[in-house]
Amino acid sequence: MYLRNYWYVGAWSHELTTDAPFQRHLLGEPLVFYRTEDGEPAVLHDLCPHRFAPLSTGRVVGDAIECGYHGFTFNKTGACTVIPGMDKVPEKLCVRGYPAVEKWGWIFVWMGDPETADPATIPDFHYLDDPAWAGKGETMPVKANYTLLRDNLLDLTHAKFLHRTTLKTDAVTDFPVDAITSDKQINVRRRMVNIPQTSPLWTEVGGFTQPVTQWQNVEFTPAANIVIKMGVHSAENSTENKRIEFRILNALVPETENTTHYFWAIMRNFEINDDEMTEMTFTGNKSAFAEDQWIIEKQQAMMNALDNPTPIAVPHDKGVLRATQLVDRLIKQEQSAAE
Ligand code: FES
Ligand SMILES: [Fe+2]
Repeated sequence: MYLRNYWYVGAWSHELTTDAPFQRHLLGEPLVFYRTEDGEPAVLHDLCPHRFAPLSTGRVVGDAIECGYHGFTFNKTGACTVIPGMDKVPEKLCVRGYPAVEKWGWIFVWMGDPETADPATIPDFHYLDDPAWAGKGETMPVKANYTLLRDNLLDLTHAKFLHRTTLKTDAVTDFPVDAITSDKQINVRRRMVNIPQTSPLWTEVGGFTQPVTQWQNVEFTPAANIVIKMGVHSAENSTENKRIEFRILNALVPETENTTHYFWAIMRNFEINDDEMTEMTFTGNKSAFAEDQWIIEKQQAMMNALDNPTPIAVPHDKGVLRATQLVDRLIKQEQSAAE
């Protein structure tokens, strides 16, 4: 069960080329991604209606893709333009074309009714190419349902136990969260005031040696996007005056019910011309995310084995519960609108 009338991240800009169309599944559907000769992103259902070869076996010709088997050709809207040996192409012959927009270095794909695709509703990941921010990201394949990643990011107390060498902040469990809910977003906030120290990674990159205040705003936007806004600055009783901020960008894109394309990036607003800092923050965050991947895949395996048992909720799960409720409600709305 997925939200359909939403933009999902499908690829990084650099992945789309004119000479190497590729297949990627989103929401269980096979898609072919390519770039037209005019440089536009194109996303089609990756199944040739002739004899079912994937179109991703083919080559790009102008704005179209020519099937690698017998040469049927489909333009970027999915209309068939060429059938070798036939003067006329049946009007109705087509594959599904998915609206695709390239923005900030990501390719956003509309997975719902093409008539309702509105680029104004693309989730805000502008930090990816904002000159005031620097950083780096990648795609992590995770063998778990995307909701387990969503839950992971909405309850950051886990860092204390799972990310001991990187993102662990001892005080995190002492401070409750606020969860602010609207129709379009869940915002989970925590402010840790005057704590003895921040995490090992932020201590290293920020050079903190005295008490700090650390804040986290985790913004969840359906279908499955999370921006973690966070910062650490010297506490009032510190003689230091240091301040760092990050935006950790997360697009949790269902590949299948049991697998997720996890597009992420860590952006910062300090020492933005320092490539070593980019590597240090990327590598540190990546090793923490590998720990998330490790436990989430184990969690998924247990849930599969036990046929999805019911979890227990505690106050730190406030954001997790709100996001679950919001998405469930939106899915019901989509389904009843479709009936
Ligand atoms: S299967 Fe694609 S043209 Fe025949
Ligand atoms: Fe984590």
